[in-house]
Amino acid sequence: MESTRNEEISSFFDSAPPLKNRDNIKHKLNEFIRLNSSPNGGDEEKARRIVCVTSGGTTVPLEQRCVRYIDNFSSGHRGAASTEYLLKAGYAVIFLYRRGTFQPFCRSLPDDPFLECFESIDPKNIQVRQQHSEAVKLAIRDHHTAVAGGLLLKLPFTTIFEYLQMLQMTALSLSSLGPHAMFYLAAAVSDFYVPWKSMAEHKIQSGSGHLDIRLVQVPKLLSVLRKEWAPMAFCISFKLETDSRILQEKAEMALRKYGMHVVVANELLTRKEEVFVVTGNLKITVHRDKTQVDSDVENPLIELLVNRHSVYMKESDT
Ligand code: PMT
Repeated sequence: MESTRNEEISSFFDSAPPLKNRDNIKHKLNEFIRLNSSPNGGDEEKARRIVCVTSGGTTVPLEQRCVRYIDNFSSGHRGAASTEYLLKAGYAVIFLYRRGTFQPFCRSLPDDPFLECFESIDPKNIQVRQQHSEAVKLAIRDHHTAVAGGLLLKLPFTTIFEYLQMLQMTALSLSSLGPHAMFYLAAAVSDFYVPWKSMAEHKIQSGSGHLDIRLVQVPKLLSVLRKEWAPMAFCISFKLETDSRILQEKAEMALRKYGMHVVVANELLTRKEEVFVVTGNLKITVHRDKTQVDSDVENPLIELLVNRHSVYMKESDT
């Protein structure tokens, strides 16, 4: 059983096309972690907590020169909103996100901010439309403060190959932080993929009837993350289902099977209203505050998770 799992994992990483900018990503990660883990002259007690937030869905290419791919649903809203609250709570955030999905601090902007937020007043001048000026100002200010202040590192991915290689690199780099590190795995990760070596190189041609493609199971790397890559880090994974009857049971199973510290369970249709947090023997329902117009479920969720992380860090010290 264990050797089959190890074979699946090696086969995934061996067959994955190497990351194009691997050295650059590694350098950025190491620099970010170095700056944030010793802000007080190496005083470990006061070192900033660092969290890796994964966000958005991974794709599975069907062709090496990819025209077609299988996608996983996730707008990235959960990851982007959570990143804002984690920064507010004092964390430095590595935001591992799918290109083109929601970004932190941009949630209050219209769908097409570039075209909708600006207007051309004469051929030489462009200005922010009055109705969006406050939102644009805040977005620019908060984003700049986080990035320029070295508290937010944004790393984009598209495919499952990029995502898992980047998650591994991040986890190995963060492992030196021990319990100060947190993983918040909100990305919707593909369950099946086409191994690179058996993938068609060119665009698959139509016209010859049905198409047979063999998909191989993506190895679940949650337990590897927990046991090998960053064994002391505080790990939160998500469970998404569309059938509410099996949601809790699946979340409890994930907690046990992958050794997660917390599993956040959500149902597709109600994911913006409530989530169920499963941790140890506790099951806690977290709701959006419906009395507030702009409230979201991520605000109380992050508050709860930050507290759980604090308890975990204290327990790890003793
Ligand atoms: O982005 P939004 O539109 O705001 O929506 C948020 C969300 C619904 C996507 C988010 O809240 C969520 O539930 N994300 C996880 C979705 C998912 O893929 O669930 P899953 O049951 O397939 O996977 C469970 C966990 O295992 C996830 O933490 C996933 O990151 C991880 N996983 C999954 C497959 C795999 N091969 N390896 C993994 O590590």
